[in-house]
Amino acid sequence: MINSYQTSHLDSIGSFLAMDIFSLAQKLEAQGREIIHLEFGEPDFSPPPEAAKSVRECIETQPARYTHTQGIEQLRINITKKYSENYGVQIEPQQVLVSNGSSLLLFLSVLLLAKPGTEVILTDPSFACYENTIRIAGAKPILIKLHKEEGFQLNLDELRKKITSKTSAILINSPSNPTGVVFNPEVMKGLAGLGIPVISDEIYADLSYEESPYSFLSFSDNTIAIHGFSKYYAMTGWRLGFMITPIEWMSSAARLHQNLMISANDFVQQAGIAVLQNSTSYCESMKFEFNKRRKYVLNRLSELGMNLGYTPTGAFYVLYKYRDSSKSSFNLCKEVLEKTGVAIAPGRDFGLGAEGYIRISYANSMENIEKALTKIAETGLL
Ligand SMILES: Cc1ncc(COP(=O)(O)O)c(C=O)c1O
Repeated sequence: MINSYQTSHLDSIGSFLAMDIFSLAQKLEAQGREIIHLEFGEPDFSPPPEAAKSVRECIETQPARYTHTQGIEQLRINITKKYSENYGVQIEPQQVLVSNGSSLLLFLSVLLLAKPGTEVILTDPSFACYENTIRIAGAKPILIKLHKEEGFQLNLDELRKKITSKTSAILINSPSNPTGVVFNPEVMKGLAGLGIPVISDEIYADLSYEESPYSFLSFSDNTIAIHGFSKYYAMTGWRLGFMITPIEWMSSAARLHQNLMISANDFVQQAGIAVLQNSTSYCESMKFEFNKRRKYVLNRLSELGMNLGYTPTGAFYVLYKYRDSSKSSFNLCKEVLEKTGVAIAPGRDFGLGAEGYIRISYANSMENIEKALTKIAETGLL
């Protein structure tokens, strides 16, 4: 007999509520309802044309093989150039490891730095998978609350109070999913000064609209930086991401990666090379559009009396605190979806600290955003 107890050790690993909203939205779509999707952080633009061109050429002319576990050397060289040109950080190709998306690399970086039973400090709210990833790796997530009243900035005094002899790493994400906040560089310097290894998820680094993009590596080399092609390069489904570690940690990282993945897809890595070499103006024009939408969303929300109470300047999200705090964010999102056909993400996905909030993604057309904001405001639910 097959018993579900067999997998009960994974019962504490939660699913994404935004996925549940998406499933409900799909059901409504199947019944003929028009749905506007603002629940996911997925660019609505096509990937840079160089990506598809390179894959076509690659498949026609070369057999796809395993690559070096750290990734094709030319791609790693292009990544070092990106870090030098965009963030003023000098790294070596031997410090780069490429994989199929940055999600796996988040897990790998926690495995790498956090021995089972140790503690990893992270923010609340933060990206939905962080807490689960830390638990799966056998470490303990320790949360520091970010406050809307402080612009969702990292508070170093609160962070210091959470450090114990068991702390093995601090996981940060700037610009942040779900707040869209860029952490203050001065605070980053202070964080670097604590001398604890930092895992810096910088997948939105290039989508910083008011400040110059930075990498945490410019503050400390005691860092694993994680980045990828899903957001700024609009290549979510291509599954291409990379991590940068000190040389001293790479042998362990590469062994882990060999065992878990062998290597990332050959031709997708070739597409990564083509994109890094030739797509800057294409990507900058997407960024320009995201910024236009961001400004529109901020103005429109305030016109509708839905003030955010802070200013998001990066990524493509805003986190909004709705009025009726007795309602769970999941139920509220369900109700909004049923009444308006607009799908948004429940704040609870991003930690207990974001319960009472909803996350709106502006990775959708201006026309859809305009319609969606008016519709959700009209419900009076928010
Ligand atoms: C903060 C953050 N990190 C990582 C990821 C995952 O990116 P990838 O597609 O490279 O796995 C996401 C996706 O939404 C994200 O928001």
